[in-house]
Amino acid sequence: MAPAASATSQVFEQRCIICHQPNAQGVAGLYPPLADSIGYYVRVKDGRQYLVHVLLNGLGGSVVVKGVTYNGLMPQFAYLSDDDIAAALNEVLTRFNSAELPKDLQPITPDQVKAGRAITENSTELMHERAHIYEELKDAGLGASK
Ligand code: HEC
Repeated sequence: MAPAASATSQVFEQRCIICHQPNAQGVAGLYPPLADSIGYYVRVKDGRQYLVHVLLNGLGGSVVVKGVTYNGLMPQFAYLSDDDIAAALNEVLTRFNSAELPKDLQPITPDQVKAGRAITENSTELMHERAHIYEELKDAGLGASK
């Protein structure tokens, strides 16, 4: 395997664009967009934790993103370093979600990824976590991509 990339773009480019596409718009019905969607999640408390958990555990089951249903399988990336996982998420957030980000966005840190490894979550649990984020966004009157 290639040595751990320190440059942010390499992780996204090497691991994510094959499905989510270079512009992070995804492929309707197959791979959900990450652009102008996951930026909302980090507006609420549990959002960044959810993103870390998806990368560490993968995700399967039905999700709705911007009105389109996806019933796919996201592979897990737990074999990547904490730095690489944080870098991939931070790149998607800052490059493709700038309009949605809170002004005081703190980047996702490698330590948060490391902490996320303590719990293994299956897709059912992740779906609950995801639904909770959408509820938090609704309660806070913040937009969501659904
Ligand atoms: C093999 C294809 C594939 C690859 C590679 C892939 N993903 Fe995914 N990703 C998916 C699919 C499919 C879903 C939706 C899963 C579902 O339908 O349950 C998803 C979902 C997600 C979600 C959750 C979105 C939401 O709205 O809840 C995030 C975040 C994510 N991917 C980020 C990434 C990142 C970052 C990478 C690169 C490290 C990556 N993905 C690589 C296929 C992929």
